[in-house]
Amino acid sequence: MRVLVTGGAGYIGSHTVLALLRAGHEVHVLDDFSNASPEALARVGAMTNGRIGLTRGDVRKDSALDAAMEGFGPEAVIHFAGKKAVGESESAPLLYYDINVGGTVALLAAMDRHGCGGIVFSSSATVYGSPDYLPLDEDHPTRPANPYGRTKLMSEGIIADWAGATDGASAISLRYFNPVGADVSARIGEDPIGVPDNLMPFIAQVAIGRRKELAIFGADWPTRDGTGERDYIHVSDLAEAHVAALAHVAGRTGYDVCNVGTGTGSTVLEMVAAFEAATGVAIPYRLTDRRPGDVKSYVASVDKARDLLGWESRRDLPDMCGSTWAWQQANPNGFRD
Ligand code: UFG
Repeated sequence: MRVLVTGGAGYIGSHTVLALLRAGHEVHVLDDFSNASPEALARVGAMTNGRIGLTRGDVRKDSALDAAMEGFGPEAVIHFAGKKAVGESESAPLLYYDINVGGTVALLAAMDRHGCGGIVFSSSATVYGSPDYLPLDEDHPTRPANPYGRTKLMSEGIIADWAGATDGASAISLRYFNPVGADVSARIGEDPIGVPDNLMPFIAQVAIGRRKELAIFGADWPTRDGTGERDYIHVSDLAEAHVAALAHVAGRTGYDVCNVGTGTGSTVLEMVAAFEAATGVAIPYRLTDRRPGDVKSYVASVDKARDLLGWESRRDLPDMCGSTWAWQQANPNGFRD
């Protein structure tokens, strides 16, 4: 299929472009490189001998969207482009509504102009908010606890309304749990700007000596060892879930939502131990207060992904930790080397 990937140069986007090319799809990327590097796409192109079309531009701009779609004629879109930092969304909510919600509306309108009726949307498990029960299935109530999460839930609703009102349209929102790791080649990976918000890139930067120690946010959670539990999923598995979602979208009409996780939770201390075991590098840490807004546990129910998409995660914690370390070692300053 001809697939337009917005935000295709980012962390999840670049791994998905790689998976799409490996699956034989044609790819055009729309990215403004505000939180991504053109180098990521150059490396994906080199790894696949693939030709990746590129439009540099803002997903809110009709001119950029038209430039990306004209000539290429996408049969489907995978929509990653957006802002993703919870803390920043609390201090700059309008920026988040503008880019994440406004970008989705502009994209759907452009799809209408260009006769494209299929979309896979990059959503987040954060739309569920604080869990009533675990594992989280897709019927769990949605009540996101921050503006970032609300932009994802609003975008899901807009896409559902569009799919309902558009003949032949087909859409799915994928609710990601905690993506980590890097492609096995160590050529692409997560490259956060500044101090990483997330656990895995922080651990990797402690391991490489860029940071002194990991602060563990809370040792008094009611979990096995007192630290927060999450469902970490290898980014290459997540990328392959998009390829499966694309096939699903191509074969039907209507709208659906689907979790993408592994179904297994790991605590912060378990992640530290897994990283140490996979790499042989000790991670010094300090137990600190809980981080505001955090929850005890977040684990996905994975039945729907298996039944609807025929997709299951394949990679384990040693793969996630080992590939993170290989990427970090080969690219100590990310794509800026
Ligand atoms: N943690 C630490 N120290 C750190 C960073 C994180 O102890 O320096 C802990 C957190 O308290 C949490 C766990 O590690 O228990 C995971 O934290 P992350 O920040 O890596 O991930 P979150 O689950 O908090 O958030 C992620 C994404 C959000 C998304 C959310 C829900 O960053 O965008 O998952 O799916 F909304």
